[in-house]
Amino acid sequence: MSILLTRRSFHRLTVFGAAAIGSQALWPLARADEPVDVPWVYDDPHLSANFLPVQREADVRDLRVIAGRIPADLRGVYMRNGPNPEFKPIAYTYPLDGDGMIHAVYIEDGKARYRNRYVKTQSLTVERRAGRAVFGSFAHPVPVDPAAFLPGEVPSPVKNGAFVNIIFHGGRFIALNEATTSYEVNEELATLGQWTAGGAEPLRLGAHNRRHPRTGDLYALEYSWRTPTVKFHRIDASGVLVSTRSVELPMPTMIHDFILTEHYVVLIAGPAVFDVQAAKAGKSMLQWRPDLGMRIALLPLDGGAPVWIEGEPFFVFHFANGFERGQQIVVDYVHHDKFALADGPVPTFKRMTIDPARRSFEVAGFSNEITEFPRINHLREALPTRFVYMPTLTSSLKEVQPPSAVFNALLKLDTETGQYTRHDLGNQIVGEAAFVPRLGGQAEDDGYLAAFAYDPELRSSSLLLLDARRIEEAPVAVIEMPQRVPQGLHGNWITRAS
Ligand SMILES: [Fe+2]
Repeated sequence: MSILLTRRSFHRLTVFGAAAIGSQALWPLARADEPVDVPWVYDDPHLSANFLPVQREADVRDLRVIAGRIPADLRGVYMRNGPNPEFKPIAYTYPLDGDGMIHAVYIEDGKARYRNRYVKTQSLTVERRAGRAVFGSFAHPVPVDPAAFLPGEVPSPVKNGAFVNIIFHGGRFIALNEATTSYEVNEELATLGQWTAGGAEPLRLGAHNRRHPRTGDLYALEYSWRTPTVKFHRIDASGVLVSTRSVELPMPTMIHDFILTEHYVVLIAGPAVFDVQAAKAGKSMLQWRPDLGMRIALLPLDGGAPVWIEGEPFFVFHFANGFERGQQIVVDYVHHDKFALADGPVPTFKRMTIDPARRSFEVAGFSNEITEFPRINHLREALPTRFVYMPTLTSSLKEVQPPSAVFNALLKLDTETGQYTRHDLGNQIVGEAAFVPRLGGQAEDDGYLAAFAYDPELRSSSLLLLDARRIEEAPVAVIEMPQRVPQGLHGNWITRAS
């Protein structure tokens, strides 16, 4: 069967499954007769519409390019992870719960191929054996049924779904969760096991890590809901853990991301703390405690003593980048007035300038547009950067009062001029955009942006490739996805060496 399907026939394909139209060639390895969506419903906007998980694992070659063309010199894979619970949850809090599912688009010779797979974690294995959800929510843990575990398995009340991020380091693809171990997958998304970083035991990591521009070392955060100790691991370019250093906070604190500059790791800890007593009282285990204030630690990479700075509290999920400018440290990030998982204040993009000598910082805004998931050209991480790419929400989305993390436009911010350019997708939903460096490109913005988009009227998804120099123009390519790709979290482009 030809894959030159019309957009309407693709809609039928996604709704009724490939077998209904006899497309064996489309699904050479997939469970072709399986519906795309999970067979359950759960009353939560972050498990409805395009947040509804998919269950089918598919392989499709020669994806249809419905606009533009795939640049001939693009060679690599865009992988994106996201929470995709297989079983109807006992409790669910976005974006803290789920099973990892990685959606990958492999590009070579102007063609694209799609594959998606669950990250087969130990937690998912336990639930598949039980045939139901076993774990509660990270925010609302529940006692787990000991009968669901085999001898030797630890009946932890906290699930590790490895769903937040997927990175490539030391020749390995690593699926990351939050404050727990990570899982290695191969390029075709088969789960290989927990990642040990060259050691004997799996290494505990946060979801966001940063690579040093000179050494290629990966700096990785580890925090725990049990203790106030925050660790930073240095993992060399080959993927081997080299060293770890620790700092102490007043309470166990959620720290989703951090900053690396040429000479510092920068910990910026808003007081979103884990409170087990609150959880026992039926409240969220994550509590906003502004009385604890803001704690910033500058950790010199040469091993020098940390410099601590305190200030008025706010919260950061995601930093775009940080870098040194003279004696100051510049941090570009998305500012939340306080920690909230839903219905919080509008997050906006800001720049923090830290003065280590004065032990002070200042914050300045760029605009009041809602945003999250900021990204830069990752090849310049920890170095001075000018451009930031991030999604936003405009009035052209038809959905009224969409839940958090729904965006329909991409922004490019020039931090030197403060000017924004915009690619408005109208009534399509878009998420984080990963930077795709152009082969041989020299300028910071010489590359593409890759992001999944979703059309709620057609219930179909596509991969957008925008020219990062001119994001307001028509896409370089729009690649039709063979099934719905749910709203996810973080992804990356991995260039394949020729
Ligand atoms: Fe994140």
